[in-house]
Amino acid sequence: MTPWTIRLCERRDVHELLFIEEAQFPEPWTRGMLLDEITNVETRRYTVAVLDTSIVGYLGVMFVMDELHVNTIGTLPGFEGRGIAASLMDDAWRDATERGIKRATLEVATSNTRAQQLYYRYGFKPVGVRKNYYERSGEDALVLWADLPSAT
Ligand SMILES: CC(C)(COP(=O)(O)OP(=O)(O)OC[C@H]1O[C@@H](n2cnc3c(N)ncnc32)[C@H](O)[C@@H]1OP(=O)(O)O)[C@@H](O)C(=O)NCCC(=O)NCCS
Repeated sequence: MTPWTIRLCERRDVHELLFIEEAQFPEPWTRGMLLDEITNVETRRYTVAVLDTSIVGYLGVMFVMDELHVNTIGTLPGFEGRGIAASLMDDAWRDATERGIKRATLEVATSNTRAQQLYYRYGFKPVGVRKNYYERSGEDALVLWADLPSAT
């Protein structure tokens, strides 16, 4: 059993998410963007990993028909490499399978090999490139797709 627990994200978590977001992403979302995402429970599912009383990771996915889009995932600096992101992905995959979701997709920066390693473990495969996807850096994004267990 992991020392952290996974639960649904709540509005009050936004400060901690913003902290991780600003520490981990070159083009971080704002508080307003995060709040819009967290509270849009019709089409989004945001989860957090909680260790003691602190949020050490979060994952946000969006549902589009029978597809799941990974919108964001981040682990608190200093807590990487312990399996926190994998726990969040496991939980999302379990939930998506129950919902009958068939496929999942996401974009990831071509240089972000750490995140790519995580995604490849979940069956994601590159299917294309979006040129100049990231506004500030102009970096390209790989487009990844995966079949979920419910589809096989
Ligand atoms: C990508 C990220 C979410 C991974 O989180 P994490 O909690 O460290 O991931 P986990 O510990 O669950 O590791 C899962 C896999 O990620 C990869 N990984 C984790 N730490 C790594 C490291 N230090 N070096 C290389 N790969 C690493 C490994 O493939 C690992 O699999 P393994 O357990 O078989 O070694 C985290 O590094 C992060 O927040 N990065 C910045 C934000 C980001 O890039 N998000 C993705 C945007 S598309």
